[in-house]
Amino acid sequence: MSESRSPSEKNLEKKLYEGKAKILYATDNPEILLTRYKDDATAFNAQKKGTIAGKGQINCAISRHLFEMLESAGVPTHFVDCPTPIEMRVKRLTIVPLEVIVRNVAAGSLCKQTGIELGTVIEPAIVEFCYKNDDFGDPLLSEGRIYALELATPDQVEEIELMSRRINELLTDFFKQCRITLVDFKLEFGVTSDGTIVLGDEISPDTCRLWDDTVEDPKARVLDKDRFRQDLGNVEGAYQRVLEKVVAIA
Ligand code: TMP
Ligand code: ASP
Repeated sequence: MSESRSPSEKNLEKKLYEGKAKILYATDNPEILLTRYKDDATAFNAQKKGTIAGKGQINCAISRHLFEMLESAGVPTHFVDCPTPIEMRVKRLTIVPLEVIVRNVAAGSLCKQTGIELGTVIEPAIVEFCYKNDDFGDPLLSEGRIYALELATPDQVEEIELMSRRINELLTDFFKQCRITLVDFKLEFGVTSDGTIVLGDEISPDTCRLWDDTVEDPKARVLDKDRFRQDLGNVEGAYQRVLEKVVAIA
């Protein structure tokens, strides 16, 4: 569907923020915001830019299914509903400015920064925190830096790590049923008006590394944004394949 013909068009005047992959709008309810998923894609802190046809709709649908799965397993998320295929209503959160990365298999910056070989199984999974700040390129943080910058309290960090490990178990099991390996992923959390920490943002091939277990070739099995980052081709096809597998299991 065309992104310019949204039934929620009246919200377009209430744009609060435009990010790289989503636009955030106010709604008539102060506790609820509307996110609109875009086809735009960026990598390497927006140094590489492009469009992935249909990505907004695919990522909105994948995120919806995964948020519903997590909610039904008792993990609080910001998800409310999807009024259109590219829009998601979410609870208003005060975002904790951390990007929480969970790694089950070595890839990406872990390999680049440490020399660990691509594909090495990481057991137990690594949970690490980056500063959500484009001006500094989302740098990896230590706990000391988190507290010095007052990004979160020690109790919040502990709760976010516990929630991330639980989410990792649930997502890993879910993707295993899809015959996909969940290599690593990024989560964002926020705090609701009553102080509860809930999962925010999205869970999609933009924010996860996903390898097709039914394919052996290391490049052909990549079903995530690495296809865009590394110019591997058929990005749309890979995202569509993830959606089909997710829908078949959800
Ligand atoms: P990394 O290996 O580049 O640090 O990425 C780890 C995971 O985090 C990977 O699944 C991609 C995801 N990610 C984002 O969602 N947003 C980002 O800005 C970056 C750098 C990574
Ligand atoms: N989303 C990030 C960006 O553009 C990086 C990435 O996903 O690789 O900047």
